[in-house]
Amino acid sequence: MFEDIRKEFPILKDKLLGRGLVYLDSAATTQKPQVVIDRISQYYSKENANIHRGPYDLSINATNMWQEAHQIVADFINASSYKEILFVRNTTEGLNFLVNTFGRTLLKDGDTVVITEMEHHSNIVPWMMLQKDIKFNIEYIPVKDDYTLDLDWFKDLLKKKDKSIKIVSLVHISNVLGVKNNVEEIFKIAKKVGAFTMLDAAQSIARCKVDVKEIGCDALVFSGHKVYAPTGSGAIYINMKYLNDLTPWMGGGEMISSVTKDGFEYNELPWKFEAGTPDIADGIVLGTALNWLKERVEQVGGWDMVINHEQGLIGYFLNEFNGIDWFKHFGPDDVSEKYGVIALNIKGFKFRGCKDIVYIDSKKDGESITEFLNKKGIAFREGFHCAEPLHDRFSVGPTLRFSLGIYSNESDLKYAANSLKEAVLQGLH
Ligand SMILES: Cc1ncc(COP(=O)(O)O)c(C=O)c1O
Repeated sequence: MFEDIRKEFPILKDKLLGRGLVYLDSAATTQKPQVVIDRISQYYSKENANIHRGPYDLSINATNMWQEAHQIVADFINASSYKEILFVRNTTEGLNFLVNTFGRTLLKDGDTVVITEMEHHSNIVPWMMLQKDIKFNIEYIPVKDDYTLDLDWFKDLLKKKDKSIKIVSLVHISNVLGVKNNVEEIFKIAKKVGAFTMLDAAQSIARCKVDVKEIGCDALVFSGHKVYAPTGSGAIYINMKYLNDLTPWMGGGEMISSVTKDGFEYNELPWKFEAGTPDIADGIVLGTALNWLKERVEQVGGWDMVINHEQGLIGYFLNEFNGIDWFKHFGPDDVSEKYGVIALNIKGFKFRGCKDIVYIDSKKDGESITEFLNKKGIAFREGFHCAEPLHDRFSVGPTLRFSLGIYSNESDLKYAANSLKEAVLQGLH
């Protein structure tokens, strides 16, 4: 069944170096199935028009499709209405939106925002930027040696800081460790002090069931491009109870219903939060991708099967390195705790951090392991994966990361494992 799904991705059929592309970078962005590629082409060939105001059929149709895509997202994450869904370009934009709306209105000097040591930079840096205007504190829930979050520490913090904790903002699945956090429990505790709760679902949206009601979050963000949809698409969920009183981050066209010299009136929900012409085609096709994924997940027997598939592959890969002392896995070795991501180090080899990576002429003293893998046609990542504080916490330098998608198979992992062994055996550095 998963092999049939793989066949729907044209890029994976391409013969690179006489072999199909070994795509192990799905945590960065997923490949796109034919249905998504065709839908983009159809939109621009036959359906393109601006939305909301055009009185002609093409525009009315595009407006309806735009609204329908919001409804598809709402259904996918079990939101109550399309009005709770705001389209953005990616997770980063979604998190910046939340920081600059809820952050700005809820926080005052001396308050606290709680995040974790395993956040992606996009759930760290926007808060740090806001600290320039408001003197609040950022507290990081520690990651324990077993890679779980320290909930006792969090409970103690709540006792100490109580109602000064205004926002708790967490990552669902770490893009480095691959662990899935017990966000349901953390948000339940956070609600005891009335904190606003937000979830970064960038990695989880394509790897497990994401249900905003079960999770119990007030807001959630994800990127479309990590869930088989085009780049430029993404969504924020915000619980309806906050939306009427929430002041938009941006003003301009589309988000108003009327403007005079004396003032303006907001458009209805959720368009009040979508200023300017949005990325219409990609938003509509996000709906196509989510419908496609929902169907495929049902066909394979549900999300547990998708999780089993990815964990089986991770187990296979880690087994290949059993007893090999130069192989250092970063994350829990128990595959039942891992979701789609394998980060690793090699004893005696230093991978490059983001600022060291020079794409052209990076070869200084001979071929490196990463250049070798690249020449083998393997797509992977090297660096801190935008989670530098997590690497610091474990005193781990930049890592090499392989990450999976619904189309990944054993042959990909076998090829990657063999290539890595070949590179190390050749003494590359
Ligand atoms: C956990 C997590 N959060 C946020 C992001 C940022 O996503 P984007 O670059 O699509 O905004 C990523 C991207 O890798 C991620 O893995």
